[in-house]
Amino acid sequence: MDFSRFQPVMDEVDSTIESVLEGKPENLYTASSHIITAGGKRIRPLLCILACRAVGGSDRDALSTAAALELIHNFTLIHDDIMDDDDLRRGKKSVHRVYGHATAILAGDLLFSKAFELCDNRTTKILAKASARICEGQEMDMSFEGRVDVTEQEYIEMIDGKTAVLLEAAVRAGAVLGNGSEDEVKNLASFGLNVGLAFQIKDDLLGVTADEEKLGKPVGSDVIKGKKNLPVIKALELLGGNKRERLTDILSKKDNTYVEVRAAVSLIEKSGSMNYCRERMDYYAKKAGDSLMKLRESEARDALSELSCFITERDL
Ligand code: IPE
Ligand code: IPE
Ligand code: MG
Ligand code: MG
Repeated sequence: MDFSRFQPVMDEVDSTIESVLEGKPENLYTASSHIITAGGKRIRPLLCILACRAVGGSDRDALSTAAALELIHNFTLIHDDIMDDDDLRRGKKSVHRVYGHATAILAGDLLFSKAFELCDNRTTKILAKASARICEGQEMDMSFEGRVDVTEQEYIEMIDGKTAVLLEAAVRAGAVLGNGSEDEVKNLASFGLNVGLAFQIKDDLLGVTADEEKLGKPVGSDVIKGKKNLPVIKALELLGGNKRERLTDILSKKDNTYVEVRAAVSLIEKSGSMNYCRERMDYYAKKAGDSLMKLRESEARDALSELSCFITERDL
């Protein structure tokens, strides 16, 4: 997808973010800005702006909340990298690696708080509810680390919380800010939720096999942590006998070597699980597309459809 036509409005989103990230102590604000300036695809603010346009609203209506969504997302990334003990984010050192755990926690909290300065009375509740669901999803994600019997249904509930609800909130907020009808808000929210589920399945697939340099975050880290992402859950189901035992051993073990991580990845790939995940991802992307097609035709609706394709085809 060529995002360049959205660059002007995305620059405005970034300026709005910068405007709330000036303050003292300097160390805290620099820590928060570290992740914002490191890059990122800015998918959530773009979803918000496009949803607003799709119901006939103007960018001005959605700008502040679009920025707030990116702030919340970045807050979750800082805290997620602490929880996952990951060194790399957006091709740079993660915030806690540079500034230490204590300042990183505060840097995340600061972004979270600033997000609510930018919301208005129509979107505060939407973003607050999504944030609580992210916490629930993240706690589920961690609780799965010690288990080998996580089901696909439990996984979907987990990624619904940790990831999909924020994409849903982005389009819901955009639709509300653009004064969309009840039906438009409902259809866009359903689009966002399903595209969010497809997004996380893609993220899990990339986490197994992507090019780390291009992805800008660690590949294989889920295996090291014993995470129960969909490729792992399905591989455990498809593999039999010794192979399943070997994969279970690696996932349960702390401090895996590079060779063990490679062995786990190879077992996952050979199990046929990756293809299954692609099918499930396509299933949710198709559901997203069906909801989108209930909206009236518009350039913004086409752009949302393109964005959904980008999400499932991306390699970063
Ligand atoms: C990464 O999200 C975290 C997940 C929810 C899987 P993105 O892939 O949108 O991250 P950035 O913002 O582009 O870095
Ligand atoms: C994504 O978590 C969800 C949040 C950050 C809330 P992951 O741990 O699966 O995502 P990455 O792979 O670190 O981006
Ligand atoms: Mg992580
Ligand atoms: Mg995580």
